[in-house]
Amino acid sequence: MFKRISALLLAGLTAMSVASCGGGGGTTTAGTGGGDESITMGFSQVGAESGWRTANTKSVQDSAKNAGITLKFSDAQQKQENQIKAIRSYIQQKVDVIAFSPVVESGWDTVLKEAQNAKIPVILTDRAVDSKDTSLYKTFLGSDFVVEGKKAGQWLVQEYKDSTDPVNIVELQGTTGSAPANDRKAGFAEVIAPESKFKIVASQTGDFTRAKGKEVMEAFLKSQPDIDVLYAHNDDMGLGAIEAIEGAGKVPGKDIKIITVDAVKDGMQALADGKINFIVECSPLLGPQLMDLAKKVVKGEQVPARVITVETTFTQEQAKQVLSTRQY
Ligand code: AHR
Repeated sequence: MFKRISALLLAGLTAMSVASCGGGGGTTTAGTGGGDESITMGFSQVGAESGWRTANTKSVQDSAKNAGITLKFSDAQQKQENQIKAIRSYIQQKVDVIAFSPVVESGWDTVLKEAQNAKIPVILTDRAVDSKDTSLYKTFLGSDFVVEGKKAGQWLVQEYKDSTDPVNIVELQGTTGSAPANDRKAGFAEVIAPESKFKIVASQTGDFTRAKGKEVMEAFLKSQPDIDVLYAHNDDMGLGAIEAIEGAGKVPGKDIKIITVDAVKDGMQALADGKINFIVECSPLLGPQLMDLAKKVVKGEQVPARVITVETTFTQEQAKQVLSTRQY
C-alpha cells in the first residue's frame, strides 16, 4: 500500500517537475541517458579557447548524459554579453538549475539577481565572480587559481636557489579580468616577491589562446633582449610561445625556461620532450561533481559553499611516466 502511494506521489511529482522545466531556446540541448530525467540544466560555457576548455566541455556534456540531466549548452565565445544573454534565456525557459563558468569576475550581480528572483539556483563552475552577495549562487566548484600561481612560483624559486644573478621573467597572462588570470598572477608574484633577483620584465595577455601566445611572445622576444623564464597562465599560450621561441632561433626549455598551467595532453607532450620545464595541473574534469551538486541544489539540499578541485604538478620526468594514460 505504502509502495503504491509512494509510486503515485513520485509519478505526480515527476510530472510537475517536467512541466516546470520549460523548453525551446536557441542553445544546444543534449538528451538524457537515464537517471533523474526531470532536471534541466542551462550551462553557459566561456568558449573554446584552449585544449582545457574542450576537455571541460566534453566532461560537462558526458556527465550530464550519464547523470540523466537534460543539458542546454551555449558557447559564449569569450564574451560576457553572450553569457548574460544565455543566462537570461535559461531564466525565461525556466530551467531547474543554471551553471556557468564566468569569462570575467565582475559585472554579474544584476543577472544573478534575476535568476534568484526566478528561484533558479546557480552554480559557478571553474571560474569565480567577485559579487559581494554570495547568496546569489549556491556553490563554486573549481580550482584554487592562487595556489596554482604559487606552485609555479615555488618551482622557480627552487630552480634558481643557488643563483644570485638576475632572473628576467616574461609573463603571458590569461584573459584580462578573468579569475585564473588575476589569481595565477597574484599567487606567482607573492611567492617570488621576497627575492629581488626575480624580475617580471614584461607581462601581457595572450587571452588563453595558442595564436595570441605566439604573437605576444614574438613581441616579447623583440623588446626584451635577455629573457630567462616564461610563465604562461596556460599550456596553449605556452605552446604558441614555443613556436615563437623556435622561430627566433632559441631552444625552449633550455635558453628560456618555461612554466605553464593546465597539463593537457599537448602541454604534457612538450614537457616530456623537454620544451616546457614544469606544469601546474588544472583539472577540467569537473562534470561529474557538477552534476552531483546540481541534483542536490535542485532538491534543496545543503551543499558546501566552495568545492576545490584536487590537483598536482608535473616535472619533465613525471610527464614521461603519465603521458600515455592522460585523459585529456
Ligand atoms: O578557467 C580555466 C582556464 O581557462 C584554463 O587554465 C585555460 O586553459 C582556460 O582557457
